[in-house]
Amino acid sequence: MSIRHFLDLDRFDGATLRTILDIAKDLKANGGAPLPGKQLAMIFEKPSTRTRVSFEVGMRQLGGNVIVLTAAECQFGHGETIGDTARVLSRFVDAIMIRTDFPSKMEELAAAATVPVINGLTHETHPCQIMADIMTFEEHRGPIAGKTVLWSGDGNNVCHSWIQAAALFGFEMRIASPADLQPSAAVVEWARAQGATIVLGDNAQDLAKGADCVVTDCWVSMGFEEGDRHAQLRPYQVNESLMALTNPDSLFMHCLPAHRGEEVVNEVIDGPHSVVWDEAENRLHVQKGILAWCLNAV
Ligand code: CP
Ligand code: NVA
Repeated sequence: MSIRHFLDLDRFDGATLRTILDIAKDLKANGGAPLPGKQLAMIFEKPSTRTRVSFEVGMRQLGGNVIVLTAAECQFGHGETIGDTARVLSRFVDAIMIRTDFPSKMEELAAAATVPVINGLTHETHPCQIMADIMTFEEHRGPIAGKTVLWSGDGNNVCHSWIQAAALFGFEMRIASPADLQPSAAVVEWARAQGATIVLGDNAQDLAKGADCVVTDCWVSMGFEEGDRHAQLRPYQVNESLMALTNPDSLFMHCLPAHRGEEVVNEVIDGPHSVVWDEAENRLHVQKGILAWCLNAV
């Protein structure tokens, strides 16, 4: 059987992603430790709070163990190739999670590894996050199929995974971003080729009517600190006047960390539409579902 990597949503069909969510839901509801003695190595080339803690706690709850590797402390940060790192780690551990900058590094790792590799965020995508977001939406509002999600802000890695999810879970995705911070054309084209409705614009207010969920993210993603995007992205701030244009029962989501007063105001992130803490908690349950699926344990 081929190795069950979890690299990007566009490598999957909707049924497999639904299976992973079902595993996550079952583990959330009923617990269980189907990975006794299994070892997960986590490579971090960027900072993390939620991804690190949710994978670590999740793996332990599943009965396994975790080893955290940071570039500063490991040989891959000092000249050893990613491929050689993958070959060696595969002799020690049962799965590898990587958070890195360029997706090509993740691909190199997956190509050389003989154990599953999980994408914990790259410059281009953040699939684990969006699996947790779908789970959260559906817990609050039922099936996401047929709903409308508005992204307001930088067309970044998190936005890309939302666009891919729109194609696989059957919802409409609208993206309001400045012209030079629009999402990747290739990602949009892929989703449209699958039949997804992806609406692009540069005015969040124009796209807000009828939205069932509003999502945003930081204005400056890790690794994109050059220049100043603040003035450019200020019109995309999620505030009460933007939320007022959406459906009355719309949800607000943010992968976190939030920059209060920038991409979102306190009145929204702490207000009645917000489900950001449930969203963060679901990272734990979804990581467990992904780990159990990758290791074919349930
Ligand atoms: N949302 C998310 O991935 O958070 P961390 O950067 O803290 O892992
Ligand atoms: N877009 C953000 C997400 C952080 C979880 C970043 O890449 O920094």
